[in-house]
Amino acid sequence: MYFPTYRPRRMRETESLRRMVRETRLSPDNLIYPMFVTFGKGVKDEIKSMPGNYRLSAENAVVEAKEAWNLGIPAIILFGIPETKDEEGSEGWREDGVVQNAIKAIKDAVPEMVVITDVCIDEYTTHGHCGLVKGDKILNDETLELLARMAVSHAKAGADMVAPSDMMDGRVAAIRGSLDDEGFENIPIMAYSAKYASAFYGPFRDAADSAPKFGDRRSYQMDPANGREGMREVTLDIEEGADIIMVKPALAYLDIIYRIRNEFDYPVAAYHVSGEYSMIKAAGKMGWLDEDRAMMESLLAIRRAGAEMILTYYAKEAAKRL
Ligand code: PBG
Repeated sequence: MYFPTYRPRRMRETESLRRMVRETRLSPDNLIYPMFVTFGKGVKDEIKSMPGNYRLSAENAVVEAKEAWNLGIPAIILFGIPETKDEEGSEGWREDGVVQNAIKAIKDAVPEMVVITDVCIDEYTTHGHCGLVKGDKILNDETLELLARMAVSHAKAGADMVAPSDMMDGRVAAIRGSLDDEGFENIPIMAYSAKYASAFYGPFRDAADSAPKFGDRRSYQMDPANGREGMREVTLDIEEGADIIMVKPALAYLDIIYRIRNEFDYPVAAYHVSGEYSMIKAAGKMGWLDEDRAMMESLLAIRRAGAEMILTYYAKEAAKRL
């Protein structure tokens, strides 16, 4: 087939024609909205580096969750910002912790909404690392029990799904085992499987006040240079009982999403992270690009690469345009 017999432009002539041959679609069904919940009452603090996103106390989180639900978004993921932190992150598994309280309030108000929780101790520890610290080392096996405890406490509060983001080896199995022991065998695990040590998490750490106080996360999060290792991480998580596989960040890792979509028959999620959001936001505010179009193009690209689910701070804005 050669020009002039075949002319690709024929099918691009009108929006109706373009709609007919469109290969990838984005729907609110694909979106998961991340939210930051905190202590107190009446709190709605805008996060400086993530305009349009807030630290919310429980009753304000309910308002946001309802709004997301009414826009057709089926799920949210919660991150907690506790009042106090300690060495092991014990606020993370308190029965009346910030996330636990928010889960209860949201499930009361919007029972059908899928409430996912991030499981990781970094937001709750004084040192800001995702595992227990000894000297300058991040301990692996000793951390697993704490993660399992946190996941169970979320399930007890009514969470519908847990999402471990810590990158300790063996955490999916540890969490699966504890959930099953406690009668939560039907609670799925969305595993942050291929999670890279990325500069794009910057604004999130500002939002959650979770930047590590010493060193960095490269001894547990993946080296951005490694694709094949990502496939091994996914294999492990599936063997340990993961129900959904996640890649994080999204745009700089579309090849990883694409490979996983082709190599594994599991639902794939991608996290369009804080830095990816804030870059578009900032450039939009400066008038350097059209924010709406850049947002939709980014989310569509993540879908095209193969993710069924996209965790994005743009969830509500995107849903409004769909
Ligand atoms: C760790 C966690 C992080 C993010 C989600 N879970 C931060 C990190 O690994 O440093 C980042 C999300 C984002 O940047 O939007 N609990």
